[in-house]
Amino acid sequence: MDIFKEEKHRTILEATNEELLELKDKAKDKLWKPIYHIYPQYGLLNDPNGLAYFNGKYHVFHQWYPFGVTHGMKHWAHLESEDLVSWNRLPVAIIPTEKYESHGAYSGNSIEINEELYLYYTGNIKFDKNNRSANQCLAIMNKDGEIKKFENNPIIEGVPNGYTGHVRDPKVFKLKENYYMILGAQRVNETGTFIMYKSIDGIKWELIGELELENFPKEFGYMWECPDYVKIDDKDVLIFSPQGIDKEGNKYNNIFNVIYAIGKLDIDNLKFKVDSYEELDKGFDFYAPQSFKGKDGQALLFAWAGMGEFKYPTDKKLWAHCLTFPRELSISNDKLIQKPVKEILKLSKLEVSENGIVNKKEIIANDNNTYYLKVNLTLNESNNFGINLCSSNEERLELNFNRENNSVSLNRNKMKHRFIEEYGLTREAELNIDKNIDIEVIVDNSIVEIFINGGKITMSTRVFPLEKSTGIEIYADNEIRYNYTKHVLNSGILD
Ligand code: FRU
Repeated sequence: MDIFKEEKHRTILEATNEELLELKDKAKDKLWKPIYHIYPQYGLLNDPNGLAYFNGKYHVFHQWYPFGVTHGMKHWAHLESEDLVSWNRLPVAIIPTEKYESHGAYSGNSIEINEELYLYYTGNIKFDKNNRSANQCLAIMNKDGEIKKFENNPIIEGVPNGYTGHVRDPKVFKLKENYYMILGAQRVNETGTFIMYKSIDGIKWELIGELELENFPKEFGYMWECPDYVKIDDKDVLIFSPQGIDKEGNKYNNIFNVIYAIGKLDIDNLKFKVDSYEELDKGFDFYAPQSFKGKDGQALLFAWAGMGEFKYPTDKKLWAHCLTFPRELSISNDKLIQKPVKEILKLSKLEVSENGIVNKKEIIANDNNTYYLKVNLTLNESNNFGINLCSSNEERLELNFNRENNSVSLNRNKMKHRFIEEYGLTREAELNIDKNIDIEVIVDNSIVEIFINGGKITMSTRVFPLEKSTGIEIYADNEIRYNYTKHVLNSGILD
C-alpha cells in the first residue's frame, strides 16, 4: 500500500538547487527580518530543538519546513555559535527520509554521551489526514560535526497502549547512572500527560510509566507538548506546553500556553511534587521552550516566538517566525527568573544613556528597531504610565503600567498590521507596583521581548511595524523620573 503523502510532505532532497534558490530569493525582503534572533532564510521555523553546548560550541537546531509557511514536512535546521550571539548556519541536520519518520522529524533535545551529541527526536507518522503514530528516534553528531541517524532506529517504536498517536518531543536527561526520557503524551481519554522511559546507555529504552504531578490539577488540557526538565540550584523545574487550557482572567490567553512548575522530582516513584506553577511568559508569541546547560553550567532557554498555526504578516514574504533571544534562568522565591543572556552586550555598537523627567509624554529615541534598552522609572505620584515601542504618528506597541490595578499590560491593538486578533490584542500580568520599576526591552525588527523587575515577568510578542515606526516614548499621567541605557545592536546572523 502506498503511504499517505500530501504535497507538503516533501523533503529538501526532492527539490532542485534552483527551486531552493528561488525560495531564498522570494523571501529575501529584509524589512521584518530580525538581525540577532534566529529566523529561517525561507520557509517556516517553529520549536527550538537539540540545544547544547558541545565540544566548545553552542548548537541550536530548530523545526523547519522549507517549502512555504505551513506546518509541513519538518526538518531539523542547524546553527552554531561560540558565544550565543554570533550564529553560523550549517547544513540541515535531520532530513526525514526514512519510513520511521515518514511525515517529519519532530521536536526533541540532545545530550552528550560518550563524547558524542545524541539528538533525540520524534519520527512523525501519518496514516491519513486524521490518524497518526510516532516513533522515537536518534541521530548522533560526533566531534567533527558529522551527524548520522542511528542504524537501528527507531529506538522506541510506536506508542504504548493507552495513548493516542500524540506521543512526542523526547527530553532525555541523566540522573545518577541512568538516562530518562520524558515524552509529551495524550491518553486515549484525550487528556494530556507525561510518559517516561529509562535507559542505561541512551539506546535501549524501557517504559516506566507516567510521571505523576502532585499538587497540580488532575486534568489540564488534552495534550502536553515539549516537556522539559532542568535542575536549578537545588530545585527541579518542569516546563511544558499544554494544549487545551481554558482562559482564566489574564492567564492562558493564547490558544496554547506554556507552564513551568517548580518542585521536587522523585524519579524512583515517578512523582513530581509541585511547589508552585505559573505561566512562563505573559505575552503573545511564545511556545515550546527548551532549556539546556551553557558553557558555565548556567541554565539557558530558547523558545519559539510563534503560536499555533495562525497566519502572520511575513507569510506573504515566504518566511515565518523566529526563536526568542536566549534567556538565562534562575529561581528566586519559588519563581522562575528570566534574563536575556549577558552576551547581548557583545553586539552593542552604540550606547546612549540619559535621564530626565517626563510630564505626559516624551520621545526618548527614534532611529532604529534593533536595540537593547534598560529603563528605570521612579513613579512619584503616577498611577498610569508606560513605554511605547515601535511608535510613529500612525501606530505603537504599548507597555502600560497601572498602579491602581497592580498590573502591566502589553497592547498590540494600536499597530497597523494585526494578526491572531481572535485571541485578543492585549495581554496582562499582575505586578506589585512600588516606587521603582525596572524594564529591559529587546527589540529586533519584528520581535519584542520585555523583562520586568529583573526578569520576574516576561512578555514576548511579534510585531510588524511600518518602516518609520522606530520611536520609543515614555508617558505618564503625572511626573515620572526615568533613566535609560540604550544599546544599538549589531547583526549576529549573517545571510
Ligand atoms: C510544538 C510541536 C511539537 C512537535 C512540533 C512539530 O510546536 O507541535 O509537539 O514536535 O511542534 O513541528
